[in-house]
Amino acid sequence: MWGRECDHSPLSNRSGLRGVERPFVLPPLSIRRASTSPADYAAFADLADLAGDEQIDPSQPMSLDDLWAFDRACERSGAHSWRYLASGPSGQTLGIGHFFPVNWLSEPGTYWVVIRVRHDRQRQGIGSALLAQMEADLATLGGRRLWLFVSEGAPGLSDAFQRRGFREQMRSNPYLLNVAAASSHDLAERLDRLRSSHGLRVSTLAECRAEDPDWLGRVYELHAAITREVPIPEKIFTTREEFTAFAVDSPLALFDAFFVVRDGDRYVGLSFMQRTADDPGLLHQELTGTLPEYRGMGLAKIMKLLTIAYAQRKGFRQIVTWVEDTNTSMVAINSGYGFVREPGLILLERPIAGSVAQRLSGSVAQCSSLDRSAHPQPAAV
Ligand SMILES: CC(C)(COP(=O)(O)OP(=O)(O)OC[C@H]1O[C@@H](n2cnc3c(N)ncnc32)[C@H](O)[C@@H]1OP(=O)(O)O)[C@@H](O)C(=O)NCCC(=O)NCCS
Repeated sequence: MWGRECDHSPLSNRSGLRGVERPFVLPPLSIRRASTSPADYAAFADLADLAGDEQIDPSQPMSLDDLWAFDRACERSGAHSWRYLASGPSGQTLGIGHFFPVNWLSEPGTYWVVIRVRHDRQRQGIGSALLAQMEADLATLGGRRLWLFVSEGAPGLSDAFQRRGFREQMRSNPYLLNVAAASSHDLAERLDRLRSSHGLRVSTLAECRAEDPDWLGRVYELHAAITREVPIPEKIFTTREEFTAFAVDSPLALFDAFFVVRDGDRYVGLSFMQRTADDPGLLHQELTGTLPEYRGMGLAKIMKLLTIAYAQRKGFRQIVTWVEDTNTSMVAINSGYGFVREPGLILLERPIAGSVAQRLSGSVAQCSSLDRSAHPQPAAV
């Protein structure tokens, strides 16, 4: 067990916050790292559920198995995925925290931070205390920057984080297509032209699997290469097994809605959708992308039209896809085909505050229950 506890007095909270001079009226609060026990995972997941309408992305609820699998995948790749539980005097979980590395950026040291506080206990300093504790721990791990998402629907919250030194980096929005209202396109001619002019063909994953003994390795490699170029990838797969579990073995996978552009034996572009567990009429667009040397040839547009044609053919009601506002070409493609931008998320960033972190480390060190011996060693990230 590597849990540790730290009492957060109003004083230690005040010291952890940038630009906040007033002490919080904070009930006795204990923050500890969650253990790998089922009870701690359940406490974490329950709070995430309780956040209810304040969930950042309610369309993507994570099951206990998902949380567990995510952490083990991080561990296998040497990354730190640390979860925190903040509890009141009766032991009731009041807030949770989580960080993990943004491992698709070329430069290491950026960590994604998630904080949730029980609705009826918000604005009492619990979120700030969780942030301060995680920031102090990240400083010891060598972290350099924090990323976190806030909802566009809570502009006051974005302001509160900006008062604490966070800066907006980009926005990520769901784009929705009402399939019945989308135009139909005759794609046969375009696909013929692609073949005759460029020697490229588009296959479904079902066709790839039937024709190509190396289909899985090739599509995994392509997905991994494209994921590294997306500002905020939908899924971060570290191994072929994880990709297989999601894209091939998942009951939500659709082999006929997974399009691959092939140049001879090479897989050079993909666009795929999956079903949504709790809404049979909704398709979730997962990833669309082409290798750099195949850009500017209209491949993304053709694949996008193929996914829309699939939804029309099979009678789906809607397609949802998430796109960052910095990804101007994908925004233009989606808007051009009738996808409508919905309220989304604001990505905020700030450097990890070394001085604040050190001061907090000092206060953490005074906590009687701190168990440094059982704590994983800080490692370069
Ligand atoms: C964001 C969240 C974690 C804050 O937790 P909290 O315990 O209420 O935070 P604190 O009491 O420490 O308050 C921190 C600041 O946020 C402000 N704040 C908190 N909730 C707010 C809200 N809904 N709207 C506007 N401001 C809010 C507080 O007023 C305070 O600002 P100030 O001291 O500069 O005036 C909590 O509201 C929550 O769980 N929200 C849903 C999930 C979420 O958006 N998480 C954020 C990033 S992962």
